[in-house]
Amino acid sequence: MRKRYGKIVGYGVYTPNKIVTNFDLEKEWDTSDEWIVQRSGIRERRFATADEPTHVMAARAAEHALERAGIAATDLDLIIVGTCLTEYFTPSVACLVQAAIGANHIPAYDISAGCTGFIYSLSTAYQFIETGAFNRIMVIGAENITRFLEKGDRSTAILFGDAAGAVIIEATDEPCGLHGFTLGSDGSDQDVIRMNTSSGRDNFDEGHYIVFQGQRVFKFASRVLGKACNQALESAGLTLDDVDWIIPHQANVRIIQSAARDMGISMDRFVINIEKYGNTSSASIPLALYEGLDSGKIKPTDTVMMVAFGAGLTWGAAVLQLAPKPVASVKQAQPKMAIPAA
Ligand code: UT7
Repeated sequence: MRKRYGKIVGYGVYTPNKIVTNFDLEKEWDTSDEWIVQRSGIRERRFATADEPTHVMAARAAEHALERAGIAATDLDLIIVGTCLTEYFTPSVACLVQAAIGANHIPAYDISAGCTGFIYSLSTAYQFIETGAFNRIMVIGAENITRFLEKGDRSTAILFGDAAGAVIIEATDEPCGLHGFTLGSDGSDQDVIRMNTSSGRDNFDEGHYIVFQGQRVFKFASRVLGKACNQALESAGLTLDDVDWIIPHQANVRIIQSAARDMGISMDRFVINIEKYGNTSSASIPLALYEGLDSGKIKPTDTVMMVAFGAGLTWGAAVLQLAPKPVASVKQAQPKMAIPAA
């Protein structure tokens, strides 16, 4: 059997219209634009309204990706959504997206891995492409997280925003796609970031809000970003020099700075848009990928490193070449011509 690869043929996003700036937050909570910018790098974020639940944002991002790819929803074989705080315990967001976009009766399911949901979903999708199980997969990261913020808790409430991002992976026999990846978890640190359900047995009094221990998340994240990148590179047999862009989960610009220091590389190698959207959890990587591609900063055939961490605790990194290089740009070995001796 010929080796199969996966190329990204479409990408799309949905961001709610409602922009909430740090100055808006200053009016309501005991915080300031200066503190938020200095400690997190965030200037504004989007808040979803009641008519923008997770599955609606996810479906809009999916439709955007289909439109850009010129592909019909009926041509998809599978939908995977990385998401962790959905409106329903069941059905999955992916099933609601299947119905909303008019895909055939294809498999559709969610993956819950905190803010690492998109990397878990993407690397799962590539396994199906490479084994030949499916030819066209929609992978979405979508989160409507701001409705779970406790207004009085200024350390959590300033960080998050809502969004969805989608990519379509299509099978090809031209070399590209997932060169290597790593996924990990450490459930012994389950209390570092959590949100209880209404039927939660313990800590019921915490209410249905996200609670986290900011400094513990910060330290874990600063350490794990570089480590996960190195593991993904090792599995790919590549080095950082082979990577055009690093697209990190956008949780706090200081976490990215600390990882850059650890890895001994410049901040210019990272794609960062946290100032506009805050932490959008599973949506943050496809959203940054979209903006990078749309602005022309990332080229459609670039090799990118995606890296994330989140509740669980979980982490993951994936090195992928988005699409095959055009044949003309592949260096051909020139036939060596012997120079006749004089
Ligand atoms: O996707 C995973 C989700 N979680 C995260 O990504 C969180 C990662 N952690 C962080 O991003 C940072 O730890 C925070 C941004 C949450 C906090 O930054 P920090 O530099 O770790 O601040 P801190 O918690 O050490 O607090 C410093 C001070 C405290 O005051 P005192 O005790 O020094 O008087 C806080 O009460 O800043 C205060 N503070 C605030 N002040 C103004 C905390 N939040 C705010 C706020 N505005 N919003």
